[in-house]
Parts: sequence; C-alpha cells; structure tokens
Amino acid sequence: MQLESRIESALTRALAPPTNAVTPPLLRSALTHAVFPGGARIRPTILLSVALACGDDRPEVSDAAAAALELIHCASLAHDDLPAFDNADLRRGKPSLHRAHGEPLAILAGDSLIVLAFETLAAAGELAPDRAVKLITALGRRTGAVQGICAGQAWESEPAVDLQAYHLAKTGALFIAATQMGALSTGADPDPWEDLGRLIGEAFQVADDLKDALLSSEATGKTSGRDAVLHRPSAVQSMGVVGATKHLQDILSGAIASIPSCPGEAKLAQMVQAHARRIMDIPAAARG
Ligand code: IPE
Ligand code: IPE
Ligand code: MG
Ligand code: MG
Repeated sequence: MQLESRIESALTRALAPPTNAVTPPLLRSALTHAVFPGGARIRPTILLSVALACGDDRPEVSDAAAAALELIHCASLAHDDLPAFDNADLRRGKPSLHRAHGEPLAILAGDSLIVLAFETLAAAGELAPDRAVKLITALGRRTGAVQGICAGQAWESEPAVDLQAYHLAKTGALFIAATQMGALSTGADPDPWEDLGRLIGEAFQVADDLKDALLSSEATGKTSGRDAVLHRPSAVQSMGVVGATKHLQDILSGAIASIPSCPGEAKLAQMVQAHARRIMDIPAAARG
C-alpha cells in the first residue's frame, strides 16, 4: 500500500469511536476537523519511510506509530492557533479549529487527540509489547516539557530565547520522534536516527519561517506574517531572508549525509532529497 493510504487508514482507525461509546457530537466534529483533511502528513511519511528502510517487519505497529505521531501534531496545531498562542484564523486552507468550533472545543479536541495518540500506541502493545513501551516513551519525551513541543511552545513565554533551542523543541522534537519511532517500530536502535530527525526538523522550521515571512496566506493555507506581528524569534528575523536560505541549504546537505546505514538507505536518501528540493523551492517561489 502507498504510504499516503497507510497513513489515512491508520488515522481513520485511530479516530473511530469504540462500539456503543458516544462522544459529544460537537467534540466529534471538532476532532474530525483537526485531523481531516490533513496537511502534508510529513512526520508520519518520514516515520514510515524510516520503518521501511529498516525492514518494516510489523506494519501494524509502524502504522499505529505513524497515526499516533500525526495525532500529536494535529493537536499541537489546534492549540498553536488559539488566541493564547498565535491567534491564527486559517489552517490548512480552512478556518482554524477554534474559529470553526469555538475555543472550548478546540482546547478539548487538542487534549483528546493527545490522549488518543498514547491510547493508539498502547493498543499496539497487544501486538508487540516491548516495541509499544519504547514508542510511548519516545513520543512522550518529544511531546512534553523537557525536550518536547510543550517546552518549545513555552520558550515563547520566556524573556530570552535561544533560536536553535526553541526550534529544536518546537519543531525538531516531532521530527526526531518521526525518525526514531520509525526505527523503534521495527525493533531497531533509535539512537543513530536522532541526527536525521533533528536536521530535517531544523530545515523544516527555517523553511516555515521563510514561508511565514514571504508567502501570502492564500499560498500557505494558514495565517501568514504571524512571526513578525507577534515578535516571535525566527530564522528570518535573526539571519534575514538570504542568510536563512543559505542556512537552509547547509542543513539539508547535512541531513542527507546523516542517514545511518540500513537496508533501505539508498531509497531513503532519495526520499529525503526529494523533500529537500521541495523545501528549497520556497525561497525561489517567493522571489517569483
Ligand atoms: C506546521 O507543520 C507546524 C510547524 C511545525 C512548522 P506542517 O507544515 O507539517 O503542517 P501540516 O500538517 O502540513 O498542515
Ligand atoms: C508551530 O509552530 C509549532 C507547534 C505547533 C508545536 P508555528 O507557530 O511556527 O507554526 P505555524 O506556522 O503556525 O504552522
Ligand atoms: Mg506558534
Ligand atoms: Mg503558529
């Protein structure tokens, strides 16, 4: 099966309510709005690509891991758009969750998706208990307050911020989760995969900063220009457009070089290269 259909089916299964259980209907539609239709699904795509490169001997486990990671990401976007954070009206080309469903349901839908992510991994424990425990630990670490996205978002409330630490926790964390959970789904050692996740994540956030500064909301499908309005530290603010573009190129070369040796190394390098080309199109497109 294509990665795209594996991801969509795994998410549909994860979100399906248990028989005879009732979710309040407005919360159920908020959950659907937050997850479907998706954006680029880049994190689960990377996760499954790494799993395949490592042999993908238990696809049910890697599918659950891919769904769990994307659920955390969708929750993080719902919370990120709230008035308490970026106060953004547009996400994935449609009204952000709180604009469509109101703040209480946007908060609760985000909370529910975080819980559902860990329930999804726990359910995979029926199939492969040792792998599931490691996956839960890895995802928890990259979601929480120490090295996870909660830490990343919290840097915005500090008086002084180190841009690299902020980006690493805010965005890098879920990309590190993607590469490491891909390896863990197959029983492989996750440590050699950390650098690849960290570098793709860094490139991705620099590209996102460039998009936020250079492209219109119509082009990105989300509210543009928030970094400047909210005085967020960003790669564009600290290096300028030319500096950030050069930095992006350097990180992407490093990412390709960091792929650990594994059975599917060549194919994975091709996939990272294809993504890198797409990311590098951003500054080019903005120059017109
Ligand atoms: C947006 O992530 C949030 C960042 C960390 C920059 P994506 O650009 O992957 O969002 P979707 O899932 O494709 O909408
Ligand atoms: C979002 O970062 C990071 C998380 C949700 C953890 P941004 O605020 O920079 O991302 P966009 O531009 O709104 O997608
Ligand atoms: Mg934000
Ligand atoms: Mg935002």
